[in-house]
Amino acid sequence: MKNICAVAFIFWLLAPNLAYADRQLAMRNGCMSCHADAEMDAPPWPELANKYKKYQGQAGAASAQGEKLRKGKLFQNIKAHQTLSPTNATELMQWIIDGAN
Ligand code: HEC
Repeated sequence: MKNICAVAFIFWLLAPNLAYADRQLAMRNGCMSCHADAEMDAPPWPELANKYKKYQGQAGAASAQGEKLRKGKLFQNIKAHQTLSPTNATELMQWIIDGAN
């Protein structure tokens, strides 16, 4: 088990680019069971990226939008949104703002 964690950690360190790492973060947080690159129940990533690209280059936008997602007030109550940590919510919103690649 320890070895597996060490290997995973090294893999994480060597992750070729941040966008890929953020996609992994989305997977680890269960986002992929509802959101995908194509139409499912939830809005697909490209649609969300398109919606949120207006925040590109705005300082603090990712954390503000991440908080909204976590609070779940604007949307239906979705557990996966509400159980995100503030850090992960910010990082995932930044990933979406940057195009969800
Ligand atoms: C249980 C299914 C489900 C899971 C899991 C899920 N979502 Fe969602 N998400 C939805 C649905 C459904 C909507 C549309 C809600 C609405 O518009 O009322 C949505 C909307 C969103 C929106 C857009 C809100 C808006 O309308 O502007 C974002 C951003 C988002 N999800 C990100 C995430 C992230 C990041 C994760 C992983 C932590 C995640 N979602 C996990 C179902 C899910």
